Amino acid sequence: MQLEVTPLAGEPFGAVLTGWDPSEEPDPALVAAVREALAEHLVLVFRGHRQPLDDELVRFAEAFGELIKGSEWLRDAGSRAEILPVTNALDDDGIPLGTGGAGQLEWHADYSYVPRPARESFLNAVELPEQGPRTSFVNQYHTLETLPAELVEQLRTLRARHHVAQYVEGGVDPDRHELDRGFDAKRARDAALGIDRPAIPEATHPVVLRHPHNGRELLYVNKGLTDCILGMDRADSSALLKRLHQHATRPEAVYAHEWQPGDLVVFDALAGLHRRESWTSGERRVMRQLSTAL
Ligand SMILES: [Fe+2]
Repeated sequence: MQLEVTPLAGEPFGAVLTGWDPSEEPDPALVAAVREALAEHLVLVFRGHRQPLDDELVRFAEAFGELIKGSEWLRDAGSRAEILPVTNALDDDGIPLGTGGAGQLEWHADYSYVPRPARESFLNAVELPEQGPRTSFVNQYHTLETLPAELVEQLRTLRARHHVAQYVEGGVDPDRHELDRGFDAKRARDAALGIDRPAIPEATHPVVLRHPHNGRELLYVNKGLTDCILGMDRADSSALLKRLHQHATRPEAVYAHEWQPGDLVVFDALAGLHRRESWTSGERRVMRQLSTAL
């Protein structure tokens, strides 16, 4: 297999990767080539391949490391627990088949609420609505590099708490209520069927992480899932998180990905903060997401 990596013109980072064949067993040379491209471009858009089967997608992602079985916590149906169905599709009883909702998903780092969060993520477009939604990315190596040195010194001493409740409970954001309703429906179904699911974890992580592969420091807080900085009063913590969020997501730092059917976007999930736009909720959008554990 001959991979070709073409940087995205006019974007702050990202590249298109062609030549991937999902039917070929992934070997160490392929993993090394993709990792090298990830270290350079952060986000890789695999295009031009046949749509992989569930098992092929798992086999490919698994070549990069142990996969997180997010479906077990998030109560989603599917052939493999390693594949998280990110979709607004409903089953015959009106219960979300996947994570649910067509609302915007706030900026987040995948599974930052888990003690071993996502290191690489794999997001594949199966079925897309007529229009959008785009997934926007920012580069948290770059965010950290462009903060004042004295602030970075302080950040290196801090830890933050990450919790999924930021997404799915309470709040005044109607998009979050939509996710919440889906979760309630899934909880009720589990209770009726006598299924006992593991609780969704929460975690604390250093605010500045060092990537285990490339050795670079990155800023590891996000608006969607970071609840607070430990040891700081709530107002100071919120003010600092807001300042970091605003710096990270300034418009010139953002790459907004326009999905094509079949796209497999592979990204550095520690440094690749991302946000999904909303779309018309009557239209189906079906994505498959996998992540390796740090
Ligand atoms: Fe995500």
